[in-house]
Amino acid sequence: MWIAKTKSELRVRIDAALRPVILVPSMGALHEGHASLILRARQHAGADGMVIVSIFVNPIQFDSVGDFTAYPRSVEADLSICENHGADGVFIPDNSEMYLADRSVTVSENSLTKHLCGATRSGHFDGVCTVVLKLFLLTGCDAAVFGEKDFQQLAVIRRMARDLDLRTSIIPHPTMREADGLAMSSRNARLNTEQRADAPCIHRALQVAAGECDAASMLRTACEMLDQSPYASIDYVSLVDAETLSPTESLARPAVLACAVFYGDVRLIDHIVVGG
Ligand code: PAF
Repeated sequence: MWIAKTKSELRVRIDAALRPVILVPSMGALHEGHASLILRARQHAGADGMVIVSIFVNPIQFDSVGDFTAYPRSVEADLSICENHGADGVFIPDNSEMYLADRSVTVSENSLTKHLCGATRSGHFDGVCTVVLKLFLLTGCDAAVFGEKDFQQLAVIRRMARDLDLRTSIIPHPTMREADGLAMSSRNARLNTEQRADAPCIHRALQVAAGECDAASMLRTACEMLDQSPYASIDYVSLVDAETLSPTESLARPAVLACAVFYGDVRLIDHIVVGG
């Protein structure tokens, strides 16, 4: 497996690649969820195509320096996971390789980002769109695999690909969960023992709430269950239309019950599809 730290090293690999080139964008601290994205990319690439994993903790998508600094980093383990799951190469640039000090162009999505994480994490999705577009352009990838866990991110990237006529197909991949239901996330590594034991209540709350028959009861049940947790503090619990990601009170169309919850300074997200 090759490793490229610079854009020019990456370029040499891309120029020699057979198609399709499939990208798995990541910020590292890889876990089984990422491993399944890489396997999925391998399936799409076939034996001849190229699977590239990018590992870059993208500073411009963090809304606080503290969160960026605390984001888990485990490069050696990440490289083993990439190699063991069929990646052909890893692009692992540093900040100065990705961003010039006087950079002045940002990609913004202005509709799907109005609510949910977009409302509470200022500038987050601009940072995501900007880096993802750069990674698509740098790798020239035919397709890229994204986890459904970050469902707002997936929707925003699909919209960016549609509206900017990108030639990269977006491949969604189901959320991977721990045995106790907690959605796999790099941030789980930052939970202490008590928080980790409590965190499956997020998925449980969403599952129980999804059994309610109207929107108001769903929101109330999810909030009540999360409020009972001694460690969780709610950032938001929302019911949104699955297509527009705008708040809805109707279950006639597919909707998403989504939440973000803080455990100390660790912010976890999860969602469940309802209605329709
Ligand atoms: O989902 C992530 O890990 C990041 O948001 C992404 C897509 C790699 C962009 O930095």
